[in-house]
Amino acid sequence: MCGIVAYVGHRQAYPIILKGLKRLEYRGYDSAGIALLNGGLNVYKKRGKVADLENHLADESLNSTIGIGHTRWATHGEPNDINAHPHYSSDEKLAIIHNGIIENYASLKKELEDRGHVFRSQTDSEVFIHFIEDIYNNNDIELEEAVRIALSKVIGAYAIVIMDSSEPDKLIAARKGSPMVFGIGENEFFIASDATPIIEYTNKVVYLNDYEIVVVKGGEFSIKSIENEVMTPYIHELDLKLESIEKGGFDHFMLKEIYEQPRSIADCLRGRLVSSQGHLVLGGLIEHMNKIVNADRIMIVACGTSWHAGLVAEYVIEELTRIPVEVEYASEFRYRNPIIRENDVVIAISQSGETADTLAAIELAKSKGAFIFGVCNVVGSSIARATHAGAYTHAGPEIGVASTKAFTAQVTVLTMMALMIAEKRGTISASTFHAILADLESIPQKVERALKLDGQIKAIAEMVASSNNALYLGRGYNFPVALEGALKLKEISYIHAEGYPAAEMKHGPIALIDEEMPVFVIATHDSGYEKIVSNIQEVKARKGKVIAVVTEGDTLVQSMADYTIQVPDTNEILMPLVSVIPLQLLSYHVAVIRGCNVDQPRNLAKSVTVE
Ligand code: F6R
Repeated sequence: MCGIVAYVGHRQAYPIILKGLKRLEYRGYDSAGIALLNGGLNVYKKRGKVADLENHLADESLNSTIGIGHTRWATHGEPNDINAHPHYSSDEKLAIIHNGIIENYASLKKELEDRGHVFRSQTDSEVFIHFIEDIYNNNDIELEEAVRIALSKVIGAYAIVIMDSSEPDKLIAARKGSPMVFGIGENEFFIASDATPIIEYTNKVVYLNDYEIVVVKGGEFSIKSIENEVMTPYIHELDLKLESIEKGGFDHFMLKEIYEQPRSIADCLRGRLVSSQGHLVLGGLIEHMNKIVNADRIMIVACGTSWHAGLVAEYVIEELTRIPVEVEYASEFRYRNPIIRENDVVIAISQSGETADTLAAIELAKSKGAFIFGVCNVVGSSIARATHAGAYTHAGPEIGVASTKAFTAQVTVLTMMALMIAEKRGTISASTFHAILADLESIPQKVERALKLDGQIKAIAEMVASSNNALYLGRGYNFPVALEGALKLKEISYIHAEGYPAAEMKHGPIALIDEEMPVFVIATHDSGYEKIVSNIQEVKARKGKVIAVVTEGDTLVQSMADYTIQVPDTNEILMPLVSVIPLQLLSYHVAVIRGCNVDQPRNLAKSVTVE
């Protein structure tokens, strides 16, 4: 939530920051702003998208080799020009950008008001910079020391960057709970919420840790802890490619990412699975194999689409390994004093690796002594670093707010995990193990084939686009796919959609069915096929409109359903990787037909770094 970018060096800061904000817009897009040192410390901000800010500044002279910028997802105060960042101190000598939430801002604000501070905005971030200013002005100390003292007193999460009008080559940045990447170029430095604004200029980055403060001044930098201890940074070499964060000819990032799935699943399998040699190795798992193989229980924590991937994993892991699995919303887990025993293993799943609730669930499980295995997409992210071990999904940057390729990559990694554990535990026969490996290896081609259904799906989308509601039904491995299909539709097209286990329909949702209601049924050939055929009949008997995802060659469902979408067959435990594809495409087309902003749906942000 909220994206931050800062630059200091020898180039013009404005174009670097503007481009960076556009890349970070997935993190928040209700208002944006920039501060530059051009004949004084000037703050420019505007409600709306980064493009609105750009238009607003079209005639300004924006010469400055230092600057900070912010794209906002509102927490405190409605989205408007005043609440947009950067925020000034009261003397307008300092400016701050902030991603996060200061929980004790109300008491700090009251104290500061009693001391004569006047606030222009309703934000916690303005309180933050006034607090720093107050400490700075009332003590004979450097600004970085004032920042350090302030940070030791605020409660909450932050990634901040501060500019000082009296020191035109200095930036101070710090993080706790919100991501921050520090880029090191030739006599120039970059700070951003992720590496995408930086990659064009340097591949040398430091992922700042919680409670670290970086000070850039006079072409040099230093990193200290909040306890004033000098830190030795680990400089990573990024291997992110610029093309991977651009649209590459597609109208939207979401569509590009849906189409990338044959490649992203293949990347996820690469070097880990070679079915002809019976080779299956997840590096991160090997070292901790005994711990996981002997687990009494596996608990999966995640949010949203990642939680749906966890639900698929519950079915797969239990089936293959016979270890009991529980899947929990991280936001519930973290607040309910869960019972975690010594031999429990917790798997945390997160595309961004920054989701606040998942991170807090990990910390809670860790404090109770659990072993935590992470499944993350973003390398170096907070969750990747907070876990004891893990496996990256290698899906590449996912920029569309609606998660697509991350889901299939997560399911792929979790299935590989299940297979490795099952083999080690001896709960799977050699022939089944090898058969599933071969099927898994062929998934990228099957996804490629499913993508060819796009034209047909677009035609179905025309019919669905005028609906107000939709129901998604699935059984077994396809039940989480029903949930995911419903989430995709509602989040980008704003059509109310519900996912249900098909058999649950008769316990309530069946009352909703009439001729207006599109009912998506995932009815591929698996052990629940006959049962789901009965569910389709129940819907048809009530005049519901059935759109069924079926296995190629299916004729039975075709004879009953209004529309069928035929996907390639595979082992039933792998079917979610294929059956989800038409549902992703359908949501995309419905959203486009309804004129919705596909990549930036209202009220949402890609990284949910607030609880
Ligand atoms: C839905 C979506 C969200 C995320 C959720 C968790 O399309 O993207 O539901 O899945 O916010 O995010 P991560 O996986 O980054 O922890």
